[in-house]
Amino acid sequence: MATRPEVIDLTDVDMFVRDEHHDAFSWLRANDPVYLNRTVDGDAFWALTRYRDVVSAYGDHTTFSSSGGAMLGGSFRNETDTASGRMLVASDPPRHRLLRQIMHQVFSPATGERVQEHVRSLVEKALSRMEKNGGADFATDVAPELPAGALMAIMGVSYEEAHHLIGLTRRMLGYRDPAFGDLGSDERVRLAEIQAEIFEFFDDLVRSRRRAPGDDLIGVLLRARINARPLDDEEILYNCLNVAVGGNETSSYSACSGMLALLNDPAQLRLLWKTPDLVDSAVGEILRWSSTNAYVQRVALRDVEFAGKHIGAGDVVTLWNVSANRDEDVFPRADRFDIERRPNRHLSYGSGIHRCIGAVFAQLELSILFRCLLDQGAALELAGEPERLRSNFILGITRLPIRLAGGGR
Ligand code: HEM
Repeated sequence: MATRPEVIDLTDVDMFVRDEHHDAFSWLRANDPVYLNRTVDGDAFWALTRYRDVVSAYGDHTTFSSSGGAMLGGSFRNETDTASGRMLVASDPPRHRLLRQIMHQVFSPATGERVQEHVRSLVEKALSRMEKNGGADFATDVAPELPAGALMAIMGVSYEEAHHLIGLTRRMLGYRDPAFGDLGSDERVRLAEIQAEIFEFFDDLVRSRRRAPGDDLIGVLLRARINARPLDDEEILYNCLNVAVGGNETSSYSACSGMLALLNDPAQLRLLWKTPDLVDSAVGEILRWSSTNAYVQRVALRDVEFAGKHIGAGDVVTLWNVSANRDEDVFPRADRFDIERRPNRHLSYGSGIHRCIGAVFAQLELSILFRCLLDQGAALELAGEPERLRSNFILGITRLPIRLAGGGR
């Protein structure tokens, strides 16, 4: 049984950077599963930490609205311009259903084929470079090739454009990390500035495609009609932003967390190398273990009694995937990384109507990476201290030096 940490504040980014959040969640699940988290600025939000409560809130979108965006503090908004109801992840039905139908056209088997081709080719090249150099920083030299390949397929951009965009979204989600910029100015201003840069990128891209839209995301959004009306410019930009932010950091940070979990557990690594058929199951466990998207935010639309607590209309409610994924009621020996875990109904992609639309692609990207590593046959080991992203929203590893050990596997 975990002891109660002094004061639990889930906005304390340092707790996540030190990887000490699991104890706090374990205590909350057992003692105060629907927790009113008061913050230093005098705000408060509810934190749901048990698997069953998180699933239940995901499933009740008529009570728990997505219109405030997924991240605490309204990441994708500023006062004059709002993504609410216009960006897929920040919209509620019926608008959400209509936008999702449009976006589904891009997340098709045909795009999946292209994602596979690009990702495999980029990963193979990155692994050959790593082999030639005897090692690499997996977090910067290998993992970003996953979203780069996906972006090339989904948006029809070049390799250079894909990496430029990844650099921008990385700064956006790392806005509290000094590694991604000067923290001197106000957080909201910094976020708005990076968002403006990303919008500029997409504005240029959309403009260049208007005359001859292709069958990629930009073309689908340009051709889309809702009630016979085209999407307006901002709606197109917001949904490009949604795909970029949704897909860029998540798959590459999950790859790093998975690599680190395997390197920290040589028996599991050996098991995977010996049993290639376990790749898909290992990817599932990597997703559960990493819980890269730690939580999502909702706003209560009405007063509701929830698991014994009174949640008021307008209250902010957070659904902690990272905690639900370690709930012993659902995952026996939840604190053990087990690539053979079955069943493994992790919540890393969320649940309900907003469940990750890119999940199939993320799964493809991660399994291609680990299959390529298997094929390469090199023995890998940690070559330095990993560094974690300063965030409580995206749990990522920004530095992961590894080297090829002599003598093979
Ligand atoms: C390991 C990788 C990934 C993880 C952990 C992840 C996680 C999530 C989660 C938790 C949600 C639900 C948000 C909510 O309920 O508010 C979500 C939604 C979404 N994800 Fe992912 N994601 C991943 C990969 C991707 C990829 C590769 C793409 C696109 C290329 C993508 C695009 C999206 C979009 C557009 C949504 C909004 C869906 C909706 O609101 O209907 N994600 N993702």
